[in-house]
Amino acid sequence: MNYLDAEGPIAKQIAELGWGFIMISFWSTVIVTGFLLIALFKRRPPQLAGHEGTVTRSGAGLTAVYSATALSSLVLLGSAVWMVSVTAAVIRPSRETALTIQVIGHQWWWEFRYLSPDTKQSFVTANEMRLPAGEPVRLELMSADVIHSFWLPKLAGKTDLIPGQKNITWIEAPKPGVYRGQCTEFCGLQHASMLLRAVAEPREAFGAWWKQQMRSSDPPTGGLAKEGQAVFTRACASCHAVSGTEAKGTFGPDLTHLMSRAQIGSNLLPNTRAYRAGWIADAPSLKPGVRMPPMTREISGRELQAVLAYIETLH
Ligand code: CUA
Repeated sequence: MNYLDAEGPIAKQIAELGWGFIMISFWSTVIVTGFLLIALFKRRPPQLAGHEGTVTRSGAGLTAVYSATALSSLVLLGSAVWMVSVTAAVIRPSRETALTIQVIGHQWWWEFRYLSPDTKQSFVTANEMRLPAGEPVRLELMSADVIHSFWLPKLAGKTDLIPGQKNITWIEAPKPGVYRGQCTEFCGLQHASMLLRAVAEPREAFGAWWKQQMRSSDPPTGGLAKEGQAVFTRACASCHAVSGTEAKGTFGPDLTHLMSRAQIGSNLLPNTRAYRAGWIADAPSLKPGVRMPPMTREISGRELQAVLAYIETLH
């Protein structure tokens, strides 16, 4: 998550600016310290008795002050012009954006709505964001509760998600790969665990993923999974949605394609059976303060096994 090791058209320009400012600050410090040391150790002419401490002005000293002031003003002005021009250059992409994703911040997870002009093609997912590699993507940033901030350090700077406001920005992942990120505005107890994961894929793989995400889940045909769906509808559906079923809750992440994600708990834990079970049983023990209550109060051990069997059908 080192922003100075940038990839992508936005982050690269910002990183160059960052390195430039680091070098300007470094050399300013070296030069000023150098002059200060010279002044400290320079031999002074002997003072006449009775005149200790009197300061006499000489024209040469003043010239040095004027030229140093002019030089540092020029450096500052140049830095300001450079900064404004980089900001102007990265504010919008040079090409048409490939798609729009709405990003909604929640305490403490991310909702992603993939928008399409054809609303039937739109879908909702959470915490794992997929992008087509090498294409600019427009982002609409909003919040469901408090102020959050969206940051994928290798790809772009930060943009806040503010309640009652829609902030627009864009990102571009230059090549396929996984880019990690983080909420970067303090938003409560689990701010530090509001992690982001963006997966950039070649166009074809991204298209296939989109098709898969649009599909509703296949209803379980029998056994433990079918029993689990009934438990899910009773105990989980007021917060979680699974498209094509009665579960339509929006307070927690959409789980329609839970098994297609690599991690759970807003990318805090790997998406393995052990962690899924632990999360359902007692999420606050894994992520203190999380809004999801321990479900052991609501469901029995057998019902937990059934819910696990059901959510494992959500590919
Ligand atoms: Cu969300 Cu910090």
